[in-house]
Amino acid sequence: MIILGIETSCDETAAALVRDDRTILADVVLSQLDDHQPYGGVVPEIAARAHLDHIDRLVAQAFAEAGVGLADIDAVAATCGPGLIGGVIVGAMTGKAIAAVSGKPFVAVNHLEGHALTARLTHGLDFPYLLLLVSGGHCQILEVQGVGRYRRLGSTIDDAAGEAFDKVAKMLDLGYPGGPAVQRAAALGDDKRFELPRPLKGKPGCDFSFSGLKNAVRLLIQGQTDLSEQVRNDIAACFQRTVAEHIADRASKALKDFADRHPGPNHLVVAGGVAANSLLREKLRIMAEGHGFTLTAPPLRLCTDNAAMIAWAGLERFRLGHTDGLDFAPRPRWPLDPGAKR
Ligand code: KG4
Ligand code: ZN
Repeated sequence: MIILGIETSCDETAAALVRDDRTILADVVLSQLDDHQPYGGVVPEIAARAHLDHIDRLVAQAFAEAGVGLADIDAVAATCGPGLIGGVIVGAMTGKAIAAVSGKPFVAVNHLEGHALTARLTHGLDFPYLLLLVSGGHCQILEVQGVGRYRRLGSTIDDAAGEAFDKVAKMLDLGYPGGPAVQRAAALGDDKRFELPRPLKGKPGCDFSFSGLKNAVRLLIQGQTDLSEQVRNDIAACFQRTVAEHIADRASKALKDFADRHPGPNHLVVAGGVAANSLLREKLRIMAEGHGFTLTAPPLRLCTDNAAMIAWAGLERFRLGHTDGLDFAPRPRWPLDPGAKR
């Protein structure tokens, strides 16, 4: 079985072909980083136009790289939400058009389900497992029970983790995207020089919060008489340490809850761009092992947005008999768990 996947929900235009034996036949990603760099963040209208300019060529490139044709695929999967709606519409319409002309079934994929099931593509993981999704748009911890079956144990009550990295990088004039820039600066800084408040300290539950921390960094910067490079590196290091400790500390409650219900062996999977942060990975690994979990991290390329994960999620749904009509409406919001508040 071969599935075509299309991803256009944020600032990566991507197409991929994946086979049911977990082989990625082609995985093409075009980042729009340069288009958005001058604005210090993703501009939705620019993103949608860039997706439109490139998606047809990327799909053709994926087929060429895989050495297969339209007749060889079994279904077409496209991200239909959540995300920047202009971009989502471009990918969904492209997928539907290909399905219509080829007569193949269409599968509408939830972008978050793509992230959630990636560890089954890369590591062949069995259900259930815990997923920590930390990206530019999300920060949540989910129990992955099966295809289409998710239970959210915690999520951010304000900003996403990556958003906090990007905003702090902007305040410190470190450049965009902020996460890698903060990590580079932090490597040269003293992470004990300033004490930043720990968000939600002592509060029950597994939710996350970053806006108070971001504000504390703003006040710290305003309070400096000389914002030298060393001071900026020190602030970056203190911020990064506080974020990593906060995420690991809040996630640990979810691991405890999960371990109480599942005898194991248990896995904590991390995904999303912020999972590239090496300090966060290290803190998560130590915390997970302390709870008897294995930390599983898909390769970086498949942690960030890509179409292989969309093809795979489509494949998992398709082989269980799920397909969608060509009237499936793209959605800007689409929580994975039923009854979610946000
Ligand atoms: O998953 P992703 O590529 O895109 C979506 O948001 O869907 O995540 C991008 C986010 C950005 O906010 C970026 O600053 C952050 O991931 N990021 C990092 C690192 N690399 C990327 N944050 C912290 N440390 C990093 N090394
Ligand atoms: Zn994503």
